Amino acid sequence: MRVVAIDGPAASGKSSTAKAVARVLGFHHLDSGALYRTLTRVALDAGLDPDNLDVPVLLAKADLRGLGLRPEEEDFVPLLDGAPAEHLIRTPEVTAAVSAVSAVPEVRDWANARMRALAEAGVPIVVDGRDIGSVVFPEAGLKIFLYAKSVVRAMRRLAQQGGKEPTNEEIFAEAERLKARDKADASRPVAPLISPEDAVELDTSRMTFEEQVDGIVRLARTVYQLPSP
Ligand code: CDP
Ligand code: CDP
Repeated sequence: MRVVAIDGPAASGKSSTAKAVARVLGFHHLDSGALYRTLTRVALDAGLDPDNLDVPVLLAKADLRGLGLRPEEEDFVPLLDGAPAEHLIRTPEVTAAVSAVSAVPEVRDWANARMRALAEAGVPIVVDGRDIGSVVFPEAGLKIFLYAKSVVRAMRRLAQQGGKEPTNEEIFAEAERLKARDKADASRPVAPLISPEDAVELDTSRMTFEEQVDGIVRLARTVYQLPSP
């Protein structure tokens, strides 16, 4: 089983870094947050209360709507109703509810089983999330914990969303939202956001995207004895 686990707080660069690392290594990228976001979309569409979740109903609805992951180039694209769901899962409504949905143990069991099935099928993967190195793949050969100052993360998230240059107020408000979500993710009793003891910690506040990708690629090549081009 070849797994590179990348954990870290919101907007620390996990997903885009994991995707780029996967592309260079010829691995697949699995965004575990996208699974939780897609389940949250299903819960909201079904009128379920994220803070008092009826899990059997949620999982039945997810099944009915064909919630799945389709391999596409180096990525797994989340699917709902037979179509890519990316544009439905990055909304403020989903972002506000996802920590509550993902804190439910049965929801995590469901997501973890899907992720482990991919790795057990022999697909080499770069997986990003909050508990990948600590809970989902504790045996991963390489674990990375990415972080950056909250204001830096807020500026990156706003830049990612496009639009006009944000004001300082908008940056600070986004930093507060990120910190609130990190607090919820780090303080939950099940699979909290932590840096696993055996993880390589990378503070990307002053790193370029290319530097962090190159650093992880080099580590992965060493750990998994992959040839350099
Ligand atoms: O991209 P961003 O950092 O905003 O979040 P994400 O990776 O899409 O994850 C959304 C939410 O899903 C997180 O805030 C967590 O509540 C949850 N999550 C989790 O609990 N465990 C994971 N392995 C991944 C995400
Ligand atoms: O998955 P997560 O929420 O941790 O972060 P993301 O969705 O990958 O967003 C991070 C954004 O910061 C992306 O637009 C990256 O290109 C950008 N970025 C970065 O990740 N690292 C840097 N050193 C500089 C920018």
